[in-house]
Amino acid sequence: MLDLWIGLKTMTTIKACIFDLDGVIVDTAVYHYKAWKRLANELGFDITEEQNENLKGVSRMRSLDLILQWGGVTKTDTEKEELATRKNTWYVEMINKMTPDEILPGAKEFLQSCIDAGLKTALGSASKNSMTILEKVGITHFFNAVIDGNKVSKPKPDPEVFLKGAEELGVLPANCVVFEDAIAGVEAAINGGMKVVGIGSPDVLGKANLVVSGLDKMSLEKLESI
Ligand code: G6P
Ligand code: MG
Repeated sequence: MLDLWIGLKTMTTIKACIFDLDGVIVDTAVYHYKAWKRLANELGFDITEEQNENLKGVSRMRSLDLILQWGGVTKTDTEKEELATRKNTWYVEMINKMTPDEILPGAKEFLQSCIDAGLKTALGSASKNSMTILEKVGITHFFNAVIDGNKVSKPKPDPEVFLKGAEELGVLPANCVVFEDAIAGVEAAINGGMKVVGIGSPDVLGKANLVVSGLDKMSLEKLESI
């Protein structure tokens, strides 16, 4: 009886799931890396895959600042705008070639189970290219709301992107669960008063309520247990 009560209580608590895009639904980090590496090479230095790890979940301009810092290069704001645009042009060329095969294992299936269970779904990503990616991989219709880098001004760990998602869905933050692969994203969800499932390693995302290696390891039962 207690189990049933806890189950019902939890089910009424979670009303929406908000998903980060890069690293949760698709893996675009490799394309960001190729484009940033090309830019760094044009500026006369290189960046490593390890350095690229530090760019996950980080906004475009902040990423550029870090890369310039690693290369020991100083640029004016106008030059930085031009460099970021150049990188984005190469990145967009690559994501325009993305196909549905690039959706990470279990993502579509889990989104569908959420929808079938009557939960609302939103995308909450820092990327200004989110809509292009969703369209290219054919999953735009899975989301009731899309909050991307064009709609927010404060980067994660500020909770703005997720709070806007909750607002557009008409669901209170306390009734939302966020799915995130970046530490800053996990913190953003917590800062917004939401529950969070980390996608990746528990060593890195230990602050999350639950950590799984991918959405293929996620289920409604696990969702209800957090
Ligand atoms: C995501 C990615 C970051 C990227 C950011 C902005 O958070 O994980 O690597 O820098 O989006 O993406 P954008 O497509 O707008 O340059
Ligand atoms: Mg991410």
